[in-house]
Amino acid sequence: MTEIPNRLTISAGRMGMIELYQPIYGEEETGAQRMCVDRWTKMKEHLPKGKFSFMDIGSQIGYFTFQAAKEGGVSFGVERNKRYCEVAHAIKSIRNMDHVAFLNIGIDSFTVKGLPNVDVLCCMSIYHHWVRESGFEEADKIFTELTNRTNSIFFDTGQSNEQDVDWTKDLEFMNPNPIEWIEKYLKSKGFTTVKQLGEFATHLSPVPRMLFFASKDK
Ligand SMILES: C[S@@+](CC[C@H](N)C(=O)[O-])C[C@H]1O[C@@H](n2cnc3c(N)ncnc32)[C@H](O)[C@@H]1O
Repeated sequence: MTEIPNRLTISAGRMGMIELYQPIYGEEETGAQRMCVDRWTKMKEHLPKGKFSFMDIGSQIGYFTFQAAKEGGVSFGVERNKRYCEVAHAIKSIRNMDHVAFLNIGIDSFTVKGLPNVDVLCCMSIYHHWVRESGFEEADKIFTELTNRTNSIFFDTGQSNEQDVDWTKDLEFMNPNPIEWIEKYLKSKGFTTVKQLGEFATHLSPVPRMLFFASKDK
């Protein structure tokens, strides 16, 4: 049985310890690597009013997936790590969240084709993983498929100006100004309005990441 025994770690029984990148939904003070509530407070202002569909790519233990459901979304988390998904399922059960589902699958340029269209896409701190693991061309194919499935997106990514991280070199195509590069990139995918929601700290480098909200004209 999966347990949530204390505020600092999740012990998933025989599954062992997992990295607590996000807080456990419903327990904000979990000592997670990223606070998340700082990003969510800004994001919330841009959600559609009433009911909407939401898909969170690289959902980790579902913090943003659950928050979107709380605001009226039918909310899907997509996560390749089995343990993170199992923990997310346990939190779903403990918190009685009916309008949330998690899909344990790794997204690449093939599997992305199986994902649904949604009102709001959340693609945060995962793009640079695709670049690092499979190169820009593959990352771009995935991102094009994803952005074809939505009219609005929350987006942040590892940036080429982050220090002491192992993907800086892989992201050199963002130079000299990664924030300008991301803005142009989102526009090239059909988003007509691109807003900067602010810069948010990571645990990896002293350089914060810019969070964007972008939408297409109706
Ligand atoms: C740095 S964490 C970001 C988590 C969350 N999106 C956030 O911003 O708080 C990246 C997450 O994406 C997942 N991930 C990495 N590559 C993936 C892939 N190809 N398909 C699905 N999930 C992936 C990782 O397991 C991890 O949970």
